[in-house]
Amino acid sequence: MSRATLRLYPPVPLLMREPVDDDVIEGEQVKRGVQVYIAPWVLHRHRKHWEHPTVFMPDRFAGRPAPWTSDGAYLPFGVGPRTCIGAVFALAEAQIVLAKVLWSFTLALESQRPVLPVGRLTIQPSYAPTFRLEPARS
Ligand code: HEM
Repeated sequence: MSRATLRLYPPVPLLMREPVDDDVIEGEQVKRGVQVYIAPWVLHRHRKHWEHPTVFMPDRFAGRPAPWTSDGAYLPFGVGPRTCIGAVFALAEAQIVLAKVLWSFTLALESQRPVLPVGRLTIQPSYAPTFRLEPARS
């Protein structure tokens, strides 16, 4: 899992908020207590925010100290006071696990069938594909 993967396949595709008071967001009247949906899935692929929005380009994050961008268009871990408390841990864990696995094994996807993202409460693969693991050449 990388920042680029989290952009195209945010595990949490939809966030919800309830305003505690009437407000105006980007010129839209928002009443207290209504449900406001924020869709990382859409924001992460919006051409207003991203060059070549559907292309996997890990380099676009190079040199950025954190996965959070200032324009608010990248929020795989949410944003604000209720942001994910496990974000840093999750990124570190994924890098360590991937590095350990790739150090020891070469991975090959066995199935020819494409794995597609399916939106449930979280984004999940359409099926659990099998991988062939070969010992990595040293
Ligand atoms: C790739 C992994 C993960 C993703 C994509 C993720 C994503 C999220 C998102 C989108 C939220 C909601 C933030 C909001 O409403 O603004 C959240 C909340 C939360 N996450 Fe994660 N999370 C991940 C891993 C973890 C891990 C590893 C932990 C704990 C060790 C964790 C603990 C929490 C908790 C406790 C909250 C609720 C925070 C609150 O409401 O104050 N998450 N996460």
